[in-house]
Amino acid sequence: MQNPILSQIQNEIDSLRNAGTYKTAPVICGPMNATVKLSDNREVINLCSNNYLGLADHPEVVAQAKKAMDKYGNGTASVRFICGTFDIHLELESAIAKFLNTESSTTYVSCWNANEALVPTLLAPGDVVISDELNHASIIDASRLCSKKVGRFIYHHNDMNDLERILKENESVKRKLIITDGVFSMEGDLANLKGIVDLAQKYNAITAVDDSHAHGVIGKTGCGTPEHFGVEVDIITGTLGKALGGAAGGFVASSKPIIELLVQRSRPQLFSNALPPATAAGALAAIKILANEPQRLKKLHQNVKYLRDGLGKLGYQVIESPTAIIPVIVGQTAKAIRLANKMLEHNILITGFGYPVVPEGTARLRAQVSAAHDKAHLDKALMVFKELKKET
Ligand SMILES: Cc1ncc(COP(=O)(O)O)c(C=O)c1O
Repeated sequence: MQNPILSQIQNEIDSLRNAGTYKTAPVICGPMNATVKLSDNREVINLCSNNYLGLADHPEVVAQAKKAMDKYGNGTASVRFICGTFDIHLELESAIAKFLNTESSTTYVSCWNANEALVPTLLAPGDVVISDELNHASIIDASRLCSKKVGRFIYHHNDMNDLERILKENESVKRKLIITDGVFSMEGDLANLKGIVDLAQKYNAITAVDDSHAHGVIGKTGCGTPEHFGVEVDIITGTLGKALGGAAGGFVASSKPIIELLVQRSRPQLFSNALPPATAAGALAAIKILANEPQRLKKLHQNVKYLRDGLGKLGYQVIESPTAIIPVIVGQTAKAIRLANKMLEHNILITGFGYPVVPEGTARLRAQVSAAHDKAHLDKALMVFKELKKET
């Protein structure tokens, strides 16, 4: 007889299918690049990867990762504070700090972990965390992790009046952390970092920005949203799994005492293994390439402008911003899913997002641009968008 819990779980899965929210991932049989090879042998144009600088399969990134495996083997087989840390981790951490112009940094196996390390470690009972309503799930969960001891407040997306109202209400609280995505992954828009920093100064709060979609993309040298706005924030978190090598890993970069506290106390580092050395070496190589090959960032920005302008000319509603995330709003969820399927029939891989991931009526195809794309890739994508325009 089947365990009744398994039947309940099966019912939950069936209801996902019935609601049209069951997810399936295309199977890719080769490297992440401007195009990818699917399991049915088709080579399709990739418009849904975070491989913004095209470094995920860059020969130097791959070579450094292989070299690190030869030198260190597969991994630490332990947590760092018990068994020691590889020098490649320290090298990567000082490169991240240098890249972001902070005193120090520490790494985790993901940015999800970095955010979950930061918020509960930094805040003590009676403190507050204040978060944009569209922040990434990892920030939401990081805040939830400490919500028993810490006050949790959410302001309307980029609404500085609402943020000020919360700061005013909590004026007497000793430690107030304002945390935001730098680039919001569903809208592709930027946080109002200048407004946030001004308010933080006025109300004596600490600022943290998760620049996972901004590193290697935003700012004159790809250092992210503080560089773009010309402001300083107290803490930066980010991923090594997007522009900076595309494998995995996350980090917190900040002043020395904050990083020291995280190394001493943050549970995702104290109780979980370090980044695999090959991943650390690949990310380190990617950060060096970003500095040494500024033409990549330039090409990414040219590509972003080309696709944004092209979609606008075709009459699509595109959310304006300088980021490499271009949401094309099509309305109903079913339409977004149908259009994404049609795009794939035309050999364009793009994701459709609908309710409840985005508000009802704002379902979208989310195009993500890479420096790996050539004009021919973008022209082909625009041609298909043109063909499908009559169906929107
Ligand atoms: C803003 C933001 N933060 C954190 C993450 C998680 O990054 P990682 O894959 O390194 O856990 C993502 C990934 O989608 C993200 O977009």
